Amino acid sequence: METEVEMGNVQLKKEKDKQQFLSWANLLLSSLIPLMIGVFTIAVTIQQQQISDRQRQQDQNQADDLQKENVFTGYIDDISKLILNTSQLSNTEQSLLYIRTKTLTALRKLGVPRKTHLILFLYESKLIYNNQSSATQRLVDLSGADLTNLLFDVDSSTTLRYNFSHLYLPNVNLINATFIDCELTHSNFDGSIMNNANFIHTDLRHTTFKKSILHKAKFQSKTILGSVDFTGALLVHADFKDSVVESVNFTNANLDKASLTINQLEPSRTEYHHRFDQAIFPNGTFGPVKEKNLVQNSGAEENCPVTNISSPNINMWTIHTGVLLTASYNNSSDHHINNFGRCYFLAFETARVYQQINVGNYSLLIDQEKAQYNLSAYLGCVKHDGQMHGTVWIDFVTNEELFTGNRDFGLLATKGMRYNTILGIIPYKTRRIEVNIEYTNFVDNEKVKLCIFDNIQLSIKKIP
Ligand SMILES: *[C@@H]1O[C@H](CO)[C@@H](O)[C@H](O)[C@H]1NC(C)=O
Ligand SMILES: *[C@@H]1O[C@H](CO)[C@@H](O)[C@H](O)[C@H]1NC(C)=O
Ligand SMILES: *[C@@H]1O[C@H](CO)[C@@H](O)[C@H](O)[C@H]1NC(C)=O
Ligand SMILES: *[C@@H]1O[C@H](CO)[C@@H](O)[C@H](O)[C@H]1NC(C)=O
Ligand SMILES: *[C@@H]1O[C@H](CO)[C@@H](O)[C@H](O)[C@H]1NC(C)=O
Ligand SMILES: *[C@@H]1O[C@H](CO)[C@@H](O)[C@H](O)[C@H]1NC(C)=O
Ligand SMILES: *[C@@H]1O[C@H](CO)[C@@H](O)[C@H](O)[C@H]1NC(C)=O
Ligand SMILES: *[C@@H]1O[C@H](CO)[C@@H](O)[C@H](O)[C@H]1NC(C)=O
Ligand SMILES: *[C@@H]1O[C@H](CO)[C@@H](O)[C@H](O)[C@H]1NC(C)=O
Ligand SMILES: *[C@@H]1O[C@H](CO)[C@@H](O)[C@H](O)[C@H]1NC(C)=O
Ligand SMILES: *[C@@H]1O[C@H](CO)[C@@H](O)[C@H](O)[C@H]1NC(C)=O
Repeated sequence: METEVEMGNVQLKKEKDKQQFLSWANLLLSSLIPLMIGVFTIAVTIQQQQISDRQRQQDQNQADDLQKENVFTGYIDDISKLILNTSQLSNTEQSLLYIRTKTLTALRKLGVPRKTHLILFLYESKLIYNNQSSATQRLVDLSGADLTNLLFDVDSSTTLRYNFSHLYLPNVNLINATFIDCELTHSNFDGSIMNNANFIHTDLRHTTFKKSILHKAKFQSKTILGSVDFTGALLVHADFKDSVVESVNFTNANLDKASLTINQLEPSRTEYHHRFDQAIFPNGTFGPVKEKNLVQNSGAEENCPVTNISSPNINMWTIHTGVLLTASYNNSSDHHINNFGRCYFLAFETARVYQQINVGNYSLLIDQEKAQYNLSAYLGCVKHDGQMHGTVWIDFVTNEELFTGNRDFGLLATKGMRYNTILGIIPYKTRRIEVNIEYTNFVDNEKVKLCIFDNIQLSIKKIP
């Protein structure tokens, strides 16, 4: 009995549990459904959001693209009209400036593919085609243009090689630019920034890269570098391994850590020899520094003697103050016969003349403070006292025509002729050296007081 009751109780309990479970399940379900609907709704909403975002992005891209297309076609129409309108082009300088402005503005708004087409258009319109044999060529100056990532590939529809011979693109930004299978002979990239540029199976014969910045540039797949001018170019880490390097001018180029095989560096055939004057080799050492006189008309041999004192014109020297003459040693009124040519400079009243010498081809040596100058002259005065003196001295000037603050007071003329020389280190950042001839006379009209200067020489060598 007991057990029956117990059993009944158990039965009852089971029944109760079942009911409880059902009501729980009901509750759960009834709350799950809206939850699921909610989740579903959220999911759908998110998806819709994503779709509409994508749509909006697409629309935006399309709008951007349309805008770029409008900029591009507007530009082409405008410039084409200008090119075709010969009456407008009669004012060449103004038209070229107009084209430059329009081009730089358009380039700022365009993406890489249209930039490439724009450059193609200018090239085909002969506005960036450097025809050296034409006296009347019109060239647009694109200095400062942003052409990063520019890509010149073979025309896939025709597989024709692009022929860009005589391309004129100096002083532009061509970082990461790629030229594949192009003919780029006789082109000009002077002063352009071309870090990471890639030249693949491209013909670069007779192209100039003077003072271009080509760090990590790659010349690959039998790219031909024949008679290329890299004067003053920065080629740190550049890769030449898979290119043909012949008769290249590396004057003052920085090839530190560049990849060149020993056969490329030192071609066995003499007709393919390179120039490495003042260059830095891949191993970090300097190339040959040839000591030569950099002063022009250093011995007064040109335009000598000056016969018209009211317009003394001394070749290569600029008058700062006063009058300096050239005279012949064979004139009976002086007694300074020697072996420094036929003529000399003659000063008889306070005067200063100067000559600026560009030492840009020594910039790597100078900036490492390894460039030593040697200033020398044959000079002297009839008298030497507090009332007169003659000197040859130099100033050091930066690229921006600024005086570096460094001056060498140089060589002082004494009584009687004497050969004099002075040595020193060219200061950092010097790009020009100004050689001065100066004569000061505090007493007027005293004919016996005169100074003579001859054979003024300045040479540069690497400090030992
Ligand atoms: C050519 O230029 C002249 C002068 O600016 C202008 O008057 C003329 O309308 C232009 N012609 C065309 C076809 O654009
Ligand atoms: C280059 O200029 C010369 C002389 O004006 C001309 O004869 C020649 O056709 C020009 N070359 C090109 C490709 O325009
Ligand atoms: C490329 O054009 C130049 C003239 O601009 C021409 O002298 C040269 O032969 C052309 N190169 C090829 C492969 O057609
Ligand atoms: C050049 O390309 C590299 C990698 O290919 C990239 O990281 C870099 O941002 C690019 N530079 C510019 C100026 O586009
Ligand atoms: C190399 O370039 C330097 C500087 O531009 C120039 O003086 C020299 O004549 C050139 N040498 C050759 C072989 O072209
Ligand atoms: C550096 O490289 C140049 C050019 O290949 C070579 O003439 C010179 O001997 C090398 N110098 C050293 C220290 O390896
Ligand atoms: C000397 O130069 C001055 C100034 O240039 C000129 O007026 C004069 O005619 C010249 N005299 C002779 C003889 O050439
Ligand atoms: C001085 O030298 C020049 C050129 O060498 C010559 O023409 C002239 O006759 C000479 N004058 C005298 C006075 O010797
Ligand atoms: C020689 O000197 C005299 C006097 O100083 C001057 O008048 C004459 O022009 C000079 N001649 C030459 C050829 O330099
Ligand atoms: C220096 O290089 C320039 C070109 O970059 C060249 O015209 C000039 O002749 C060179 N000067 C010297 C003194 O070698
Ligand atoms: C300086 O240059 C002069 C003229 O070329 C030369 O005679 C002299 O030996 C040079 N001096 C030195 C120390 O190189």
